[in-house]
Amino acid sequence: MNKKIKFLNLKQINLFFEEELLDAFKEVLHSGWLVLGDNVKKFEENYAKFNETKYCIGVSNGLDALILSLKSLDIKNGDEVIVPSNTYIATWLAVSIVGATPVPVEPDIETYNINPSLIEEKISNKTKAIIPVNLYGQAAKLEEICKIAEKHGIKVIEDNAQAQGAMYKGKKTGSWGHVNATSFYPGKNLGALGDAGSITTNEIKLQEKLVKLRNYGSTKKYYHDIIGHNCRLDELQAAFLNIKLKRLEFFNNKRIQIANVYYDFLKNTGDIILPKIDENATSVYHQFIIRTKLRDQLLNYLSNHGIETMIHYPVPSHLQKAYKRNYKKGDFPIAEEISNTCLSLPINPFLKEDDLEYIIKKIKSFY
Ligand SMILES: Cc1ncc(COP(=O)(O)O)c(C=O)c1O
Repeated sequence: MNKKIKFLNLKQINLFFEEELLDAFKEVLHSGWLVLGDNVKKFEENYAKFNETKYCIGVSNGLDALILSLKSLDIKNGDEVIVPSNTYIATWLAVSIVGATPVPVEPDIETYNINPSLIEEKISNKTKAIIPVNLYGQAAKLEEICKIAEKHGIKVIEDNAQAQGAMYKGKKTGSWGHVNATSFYPGKNLGALGDAGSITTNEIKLQEKLVKLRNYGSTKKYYHDIIGHNCRLDELQAAFLNIKLKRLEFFNNKRIQIANVYYDFLKNTGDIILPKIDENATSVYHQFIIRTKLRDQLLNYLSNHGIETMIHYPVPSHLQKAYKRNYKKGDFPIAEEISNTCLSLPINPFLKEDDLEYIIKKIKSFY
């Protein structure tokens, strides 16, 4: 029998909520209010509570959440911002879009998160902030990073796009920084049915500024206090997110269960390196990354057996065309090593037991 296992089956995930989503659609349709309304307000309250922060500001997507976070801290042309050398490019792009310079710092080769011991040497008198990314679902060393930032009088912006619900030392990711950005892109652990994102903070001044920044610099129609953007969250996405947020922990636990099966059955398999979770961190396994020198062969073998896998990410940010003027191959060898050897296995919460067994069996038979 020839199996076909999708990397991520969004249709299946969203159909789980079919009735509730259709009801929400009807409610918004009948309300006649489509942008920044009661559903957005409710979602902001719910997500702030979930994320253990005072405020949440719903926005259009994760990249905009990062851009507005940087703007809320007045980061601009001439400033420097520390970013991981290995991340989804949005982290770097946001810094460049506000006119600042991303200053990459290499990750720990076992956890794939930014290595705090390499941060201080990159801090200059232009450095305004650090953006730790909780990559693949695992919390970065957030306490250590916040202490370094405090010592140098710079800000922390968490990029929590991949780790909604993870913790560091028992405290939620997305609650450590001065402002924290997240994405509800459909494939994220908490995914909308289109683009969406949010920013969380405990500081009222930042909340007030962000509410203006996302809406033409305005809180009163046709009165504009600052130069703002249009980065609003719409009512439909907020209504959908309210429904899906209730099940986020349940789905995160499913991901953790699948990860545990991979850990149990893939240990000591060929040259596979399994992801390491920091003793103070938890992961909500947005991705389950294995590393192997035979990555491309394994990817092809699995593909030939109907198993879809992915590479996060095939080209590190510094070697993308967008940044290649500033960098060359070899500048960030750990990011390059991860990029050359990583393979993301299917870990969606609806992955069936026999599909998981099949994936493991095929990986073993490859070796
Ligand atoms: C680490 C990281 N930061 C930022 C983003 C940007 O989010 P969005 O795609 O919603 O703009 C993403 C996801 O796409 C991401 O993975």
